[in-house]
Amino acid sequence: MIIKISNSLKMVPLALSHAEELFSLVDLNRDYLHQWMGWLDKTTAVADVETFIKECDEQNEKGCGLQFVITEEDDICGILNFHRIDKMHNTGEIGYWLSQSHAGRGIMNLAVKELVRIGFRELNLNIIEIHCAEANVKSRAVPERLGFTYEATLRQREWLYSKYVNHAIYSMLASEYSE
Ligand SMILES: CC(C)(COP(=O)(O)OP(=O)(O)OC[C@H]1O[C@@H](n2cnc3c(N)ncnc32)[C@H](O)[C@@H]1OP(=O)(O)O)[C@@H](O)C(=O)NCCC(=O)NCCS
Repeated sequence: MIIKISNSLKMVPLALSHAEELFSLVDLNRDYLHQWMGWLDKTTAVADVETFIKECDEQNEKGCGLQFVITEEDDICGILNFHRIDKMHNTGEIGYWLSQSHAGRGIMNLAVKELVRIGFRELNLNIIEIHCAEANVKSRAVPERLGFTYEATLRQREWLYSKYVNHAIYSMLASEYSE
């Protein structure tokens, strides 16, 4: 289902038809995203994005993930997802990125707010988590603005090209959520 988050912004379920546009966006933002996204060197052709989308589809069919592209005036400007949903324990973990030209305007704030609503109200999650690289100040600001609680920093949780980075973990409980 397409979700309207403002007059010009939408969240659109990720589909194979997005592969080409998504790859172009990734390619355009390669240097910008490289600092924090570990998958860029493995995304060198449209076929790699197609493979990613097919894997997401399989995950979504099992109810273990939910992926959206964010669009502005119908152009893709980033990705937002539950890249992990644990149906046994009702937990979900949110991931996101925006193109450089769409950053700094509150787009992700609005979109994550909507995904959190979906998580608690439609998927009946009990906990939503956001894991950010410890030094990724812009990413950490997203859960902080939305009232998530900082829980802990986990050591060396992600391999980013040449080094391990720590993850700062943020969470919100269903009992803490209000629209
Ligand atoms: C993480 C990321 C999505 C955050 O993007 P962002 O644009 O800073 O986040 P938002 O869209 O919520 O916008 C917040 C910014 O818009 C500003 N803003 C303007 N209007 C706003 C509004 N109505 N509401 C909230 N913020 C607003 C804020 O002041 C903030 O800018 P600042 O950082 O200069 O203070 C982006 O930095 C990114 O994609 N980085 C690379 C990939 C990445 O790190 N992904 C996360 C991996 S865990």
